[in-house]
Formats: sequence, structure tokens, C-alpha cells
Amino acid sequence: MRYIDEIDLREKKVIVRCDFNVPIEDGHIKDNTRIKKSIKTIDYLLKQNCSLVLMSHLGRIKTREDKLNNSLKLVADELTKILNKKVDFLDSPVGMAVLKKCQDLKPGQIVLLENTRYCDYPEKMESKNNLDLAKYWSSLGEVFVVDAFGSLHRAHASVAGISKYLPTYYGLLVKEEMVGLAPLFTDVPRPFGVFMGGAKVDDKLKYIKDLLPRCDYLLLGGGIANSFLYACGYDVLDSICTNDELTLEELRTLVKTYKNKIIMPIDFVIEDNKILDLDIKSIDKYSKYLAQCKTIFINGTCGMFEEKRFAKGTVRLFNNLRDIDAYKVAGGGDTLNAINEYKLNDAFSFLSSGGGASLEYISSQKLEAIDFINGK
Ligand code: 3PG
Repeated sequence: MRYIDEIDLREKKVIVRCDFNVPIEDGHIKDNTRIKKSIKTIDYLLKQNCSLVLMSHLGRIKTREDKLNNSLKLVADELTKILNKKVDFLDSPVGMAVLKKCQDLKPGQIVLLENTRYCDYPEKMESKNNLDLAKYWSSLGEVFVVDAFGSLHRAHASVAGISKYLPTYYGLLVKEEMVGLAPLFTDVPRPFGVFMGGAKVDDKLKYIKDLLPRCDYLLLGGGIANSFLYACGYDVLDSICTNDELTLEELRTLVKTYKNKIIMPIDFVIEDNKILDLDIKSIDKYSKYLAQCKTIFINGTCGMFEEKRFAKGTVRLFNNLRDIDAYKVAGGGDTLNAINEYKLNDAFSFLSSGGGASLEYISSQKLEAIDFINGK
């Protein structure tokens, strides 16, 4: 992997793929962490007198309506504020006007293209890594810089495909992530404890299967815990949990195979017949396991932390980490939102900007986009 600070990029027109997939609520950016994390690369390239064509996805685009709700205009405004420099927003990710604007770009100028996933409707072109689309995007600059760590588990056209047509380097955020996550791979100090929460077990099953042989404890929260409990015959009321028979069978097999590693909750906060948070005994049990660990990875929350009254389990668990002497990493959109909202940053050694990406990388040490770029 070659990074932008290892080569001469002076005065180049650089396409930078960032991950500006930030939470937006009532027309406001709720958490700008990912935008702030992209600034290092942008600043570095501006100091090299480059002109910048910034790209990102936002949300998932399956309908015309999704387009209206997932414009990157707010991100252009936020970047303008943070950089104290105009970031021109182009209201389409493709087209002649975009090409012309990029051709006319002068050193030091920045444009942000509209959401790359607009090209997923009506036909999935971005997500299916359509190479005609990637080729078009490559015509907007001279060099391609991949800094979207949070998207590296997606070999999409704007993340990976462009690399087929341009010299490609990684940005400083990717570098920071690789350094921050490295202690989770080589000679990992043991015990290695993982807490995994979040809504859907089906999305995370493959990561759970990869992580179990590598870790000493897997502590479960959220809908994932409910699904494991349900698979083992417990009543989880009307709580979020998988009903897929094959998944449930797989969970039962995992519990049998790893019965000393998979740790489940023992008490809950329940409202409207649904488990919405873990209660004190579960958190204290989990904290005792984590206190023995020398390496800890946290992905997900204990419950529906977005509502303050269901955030107590998550806050207590993360807060207890402060007293644990270990290398402590957290990753995931919701996880970082909770950490920022409750000012728990100092409980961790490293905060990864990736959600699915950090999970994929930590569980398998592979990332689809990097595999594509290496093999192109
Ligand atoms: C993320 O938020 O994990 C990344 O931006 C990827 O988003 P996606 O899961 O919609 O591909």
C-alpha cells in the first residue's frame, strides 16, 4: 500500500474518495466525526497545491425518494465551515457539467460531487462496480486517492473501480486506521475480548464466525444477543431478533462449539414487551470479563442508546473500560455516536471510523476494496 505522503503529488488534480456517510437528522448532520477525520488528507493535498475532486456515498439509494433524502449538500457546507474555504457542491455525481467543472478546476480549489450512490438508481452501477462509470469518474482527475476507510469493505466503482484507470494511493485516514488496528493482528496480547451489539445478527454472522476462533470472549448485546438467546430457547418477548431458521441453527451450533467463549446477558431493561437495553448485572458480568483482557474490541451498543433511558447499559459498559489496562478499540457508526454523545472517548485507545469496514478487517484482515485494487 502506498500512501500520499510517500510520493510527489504537487499541483495534481486529485480525486479523493472519502466516507462522508454521516448521520443526518431533521436536516442537520448529527455527528460530523467522519468529516473531521477526512480533513488531514484534504489539508495535506491542499498544502501540495493540488485541486481536489471529493467523492462519497451517503445512505443507500433504492428509490427516487431516497435521492431527495441523501444529498451531500449539507456535507459541502460543513466542509466549507471546517476548512474555512469554499467547497463547491456539484449537484450531480456524473454528467457533462461535472466534467467541465472538474476540467476548469485550479490548484487549491475543491469540489464535492453529489452522492455517488445516485448512480444506484434506477440501475445499480456504483454498488456493482460498473467499470464504465468508474472510467468516467477517472476522467475527472489525474490521480486517485482512497481515504474512505469506512467504505473499504465495498469494492464499489467510486471506492475501487477508479483504481483501474488512474495511479492510486491511500490517504492519511487509511494510514491512521491501519496503524490503530495493527495491534489486533500481530501477537495480540491475550485475553482478547470482543463485545458485539447492534440490531441484526444476520448482517454480522460472518464476522462473528471469523472472530470466534481468534478471540477469548465474545460478549453479546442488542438484537444480536436476543437472537442468540432465542436460538437457545429463551423467550425474548417481542424484541428484535432473527426468525431465520438457518441462522438460528447456526447460532445454536456456535454456542455448542464455543460454549466458554460466547457470553450472554442475564438481565434486561424491558418496555412495551421488548428488550431495549442490558441491565446492571449483565454489564457488571461483562465488565469482569473485559477486566481480564489485554486487548478489547467493541462493535455496537448494548441497546437502543438513541433514547437516553435505554443508553445506561452502553454508557456503564464503556465507562467501566476507563479502569481497564488494555488496548481498547471501538468501531462502528452507532458505537461512535454513543461514545461522542456521552463523551466516552478517553475510555478507548483507538476509535475506528469504520463500521462494517472495521468489522470485516478485524475479523478477517481483508477488505474487499483493497483486494480489488491489489488485483486490478
Ligand atoms: C458505513 O457507514 O459503514 C459505510 O459508510 C458503508 O456504508 P454502507 O454499509 O451503506 O455500504
